[in-house]
Amino acid sequence: MISRKKFIAGNWKMNKTSAEGVTLVRDIVAAVGKQTDVEVVVCPPFTALESAGAALEGSSVKLGAQNMHFEASGAFTGEISAPMLRAIFTTHVILGHSERRTLFGETDELVNKKVLSALKNQLKPILCVGETLAERESGSTLKVVQTQTERALEGVSKDQAQTLVVAYEPVWAIGTGKVATTEQAQEVHAFIRGLLTKLFTEPVAQKVRILYGGSMKPANAPELLAQKDIDGGLIGGAALEARSFVELVTAAAAIK
Ligand code: PGA
Repeated sequence: MISRKKFIAGNWKMNKTSAEGVTLVRDIVAAVGKQTDVEVVVCPPFTALESAGAALEGSSVKLGAQNMHFEASGAFTGEISAPMLRAIFTTHVILGHSERRTLFGETDELVNKKVLSALKNQLKPILCVGETLAERESGSTLKVVQTQTERALEGVSKDQAQTLVVAYEPVWAIGTGKVATTEQAQEVHAFIRGLLTKLFTEPVAQKVRILYGGSMKPANAPELLAQKDIDGGLIGGAALEARSFVELVTAAAAIK
């Protein structure tokens, strides 16, 4: 069996000015900027991307964006494209986050266009999927996750799929302090890996990192990260302070 490098990404959401972002990145780089056991990505807001990118230069920490438009350029007021992100050395982009889906009306079809555009531009998507509380309670978790995953990945080739990262984020666990149990999370992660096997073959599915997101903290991370199909975390709240974020990286590095 392939051993996958653990992956910890910080989703800063709409937090941190450019200057605050530089301070945070410097602290993260000072603590874990040389290690290579865990792939570490920070995803600042657009206004802090370039300065954060400069602050992590020469370290092993990578730069991710939180969203993008699927077109390369044009009359799309307020939007940012994949080539623009690439031009400032962004390597990853979060797509289909539940906040984008629920607060900004992003559909599976739109997420799919963004995934294809990111891949075409050599940006690695961190594709988010996950069910709401109502969906979990009505027993449709796996169905929802299946639909979101399959639709988002329509038209993605086997080769492209190897660079994918998927984040399972139960919507009811995001920013609520309610973390999924390890059994709940592992069940969905294994299910997603099964879907990826069907879509892209077993060797590809074994390479894709599947992250858990939703109130992951240093206290609950070791147990989650020890699960067979949980390859890392997409971290919101705990990514806003260097100490907790670094602790999460350290927790991931400790899993063998
Ligand atoms: P949280 O956010 O860690 O604050 O729950 C995770 C996310 O939304 O990516």
